[in-house]
Amino acid sequence: MVGAGARVAILDRDERAAISLVKALESQGAKAIAIATDVSDRSDIEAALKRVVDNYGRLDIMVDNAGISRPSRTAEVSEELWDDVIGVNLSGVFWGCQVAFSYMREAGYGRILNTSSTSSLGSYANASYASTKAGVVAMTRSLAMEYGKYGVTVNAVGPGMITAPMTDQTSAEIKQRWIRKTVVGRLGEPEDVARLFLFLALPGSSYITGQMIFVDGGYTLPTMKA
Ligand SMILES: NC(=O)c1ccc[n+]([C@@H]2O[C@H](COP(=O)([O-])OP(=O)(O)OC[C@H]3O[C@@H](n4cnc5c(N)ncnc54)[C@H](O)[C@@H]3O)[C@@H](O)[C@H]2O)c1
Repeated sequence: MVGAGARVAILDRDERAAISLVKALESQGAKAIAIATDVSDRSDIEAALKRVVDNYGRLDIMVDNAGISRPSRTAEVSEELWDDVIGVNLSGVFWGCQVAFSYMREAGYGRILNTSSTSSLGSYANASYASTKAGVVAMTRSLAMEYGKYGVTVNAVGPGMITAPMTDQTSAEIKQRWIRKTVVGRLGEPEDVARLFLFLALPGSSYITGQMIFVDGGYTLPTMKA
């Protein structure tokens, strides 16, 4: 987004991480601000987006990307774990869409991008995560139906296994199994996902809405590798 000239706001509950990302972006000449935000708290999102609009005068693009994963066999899932994962991955995305739309509706323009996952199809010993990521797909389709007439598109991106902190703890063996099932024969890089976000964020993507697009190197294809 920054490369395409966007002014950005990094909303993260990890304020230090947000500030260090903002510094990195600023060192590349970008305009960016960090706002400590817990996306599972609607009032936090409301305050954060108000600051964004106060700063930049508008909100064109909302990326609902914050997410957590707490793999656990179903019998061991506590109410606390369930509520945490739903709170960030599902409620956080919903409140993000709802509050962002209140600005976009007024402007008659907007691009909302939600992060789902290949886990939306199901994930072994991670039902809480899978449920939220499938919920994001249904939410995206539903909101796209409501928001289209206001010039606001809503799409979801479904990464496969991407080299990122979330997968740092994944064992080498599981990564190898994943790669073997991936048509292009490698894990994804953050840039693979960012390129799709950028495409969907541009004004020219106005005829694409309510879609979920996997960025998974063909992992979800029902084919066997030659
Ligand atoms: N890495 C992968 O392989 C992969 C695959 C599919 C989908 N995803 C999804 O991509 C998104 C980004 O994941 P990532 O791999 O970059 O993980 P990550 O852990 O590096 O980033 C997640 C970010 O969300 C923030 N966050 C967590 N809870 C929050 C909250 N309550 N409020 C605000 N911020 C919060 C964290 O501080 C962190 O900066 C997530 O939605 C994840 O589910 C990741």
